[in-house]
Amino acid sequence: MVGKCILIVDNNPASRVFLANHFRRKQFKVLEAPTGKDGLIVAWRDTPDLVLFDPTLDDIADQEFIYKLRNDPRTSGTPLIALSTDPAPARRETCLNAGVNEYLVKSSGALSALEEILNQTFSTEHPMDTPGKAEETKEDVKNGLLIVFLSAKGGTGTSSLCANLAMNIQQAEPEAHVVVADLVLPIGSIGQIVGEEGKINLVTVSDLPPGQTKIDYFHKHLPKPERWRFQLLAGSPDPQQANSIKGERIGQIVDILCSGYDFVILDIGRSLSRISLPLIQKADLILLVVSTDQSTVQLTKTIWEYFQTQGIDSQKIYAILNRAVGLEGVTKTEAEEIIGLPIKTTMPYMASNFALANNLSQPITIKYPTDTASIIFKETATDMVKLARRLRGW
Ligand SMILES: Nc1ncnc2c1ncn2[C@@H]1O[C@H](COP(=O)(O)OP(=O)(O)OP(=O)(O)O)[C@@H](O)[C@H]1O
Ligand SMILES: [Mg+2]
Repeated sequence: MVGKCILIVDNNPASRVFLANHFRRKQFKVLEAPTGKDGLIVAWRDTPDLVLFDPTLDDIADQEFIYKLRNDPRTSGTPLIALSTDPAPARRETCLNAGVNEYLVKSSGALSALEEILNQTFSTEHPMDTPGKAEETKEDVKNGLLIVFLSAKGGTGTSSLCANLAMNIQQAEPEAHVVVADLVLPIGSIGQIVGEEGKINLVTVSDLPPGQTKIDYFHKHLPKPERWRFQLLAGSPDPQQANSIKGERIGQIVDILCSGYDFVILDIGRSLSRISLPLIQKADLILLVVSTDQSTVQLTKTIWEYFQTQGIDSQKIYAILNRAVGLEGVTKTEAEEIIGLPIKTTMPYMASNFALANNLSQPITIKYPTDTASIIFKETATDMVKLARRLRGW
């Protein structure tokens, strides 16, 4: 319950201040509004966890106040508790019919009744019986598919493939919420690839107090780079700032993203660490990007052997052979034999075209729509999503 936000709407200042102080002492975050209209504005702007109000408002009828909150998507599922100066059964009935969850009359016993109600409302084991709230939980709390991109060595095309495949997933599923988070330390590169060097990045977000980085924060503030369609949580802009990242926050941020997006796509690069391993273990799909040079293939074999000791299921590994370094190098069959994993996709060598698209911050599918690579991106994106869903049993 600590940290939950209660909006108190009451036109009697003494009563409002008394309630506000009472709940602040109990470690709630409290918002106050002296009129019905102010109450509506604050409720819609700040979306508190609960609205406590005296229905004897001066400026707006009780029924209208409740209807307005119930009929707006921002507050349709918010618990509404009337703490009323009016004991008349008629008003009680009006309010209950309009959609309040509880109607209490101000009296000496009201505070303890109220506390009991708050306990029930905010306890996860006994969520309040609010039809609106139940719907919100079903609809808004997602359990998005987590897809991580990594490689055994740098320069294999991990970030380019991550951005381009995420874009193709979003294109195939326009209704889905897709977010890409660049977790590569000490410097991320997806921002550069998609042409987004904004103010929000992994460092700024992990610096915010956890209470401020709820899912709404990401929905509202993460940029959606032009042409790429997904939302981006860009990576650390420089090593200096990377040092200040609170490691434990990264896992929490990924959990929040999974609760509000259909697809959470992470660029982990080649950093196998205390931070990235749990994310890999949790992922629905692990995109292992392999380039065709011997040393990368050998290192990939080492990584895969390590994964097996960490209980990672081979079915989740989606290996892509990316011909980033030219036409020479190992073949698909040779790579499969050395690593001991099937290669699901081979990306062709695109010479300087790939770097050019990256430099112009354009997705391959848009810059070179008829290129084989574009077709492969599209097919791979669809195949990845299908596999991830099948592994979830969907
Ligand atoms: N199939 C390809 N054909 C041609 N060039 C490619 C191909 N794939 C990637 N590249 C190029 O390889 C370079 C490295 O790509 P990218 O930055 O995506 O790799 P990375 O594995 O993320 O590297 P880092 O270790 O720096 O994070 C880029 O210039 C990119 O344009
Ligand atoms: Mg990279």
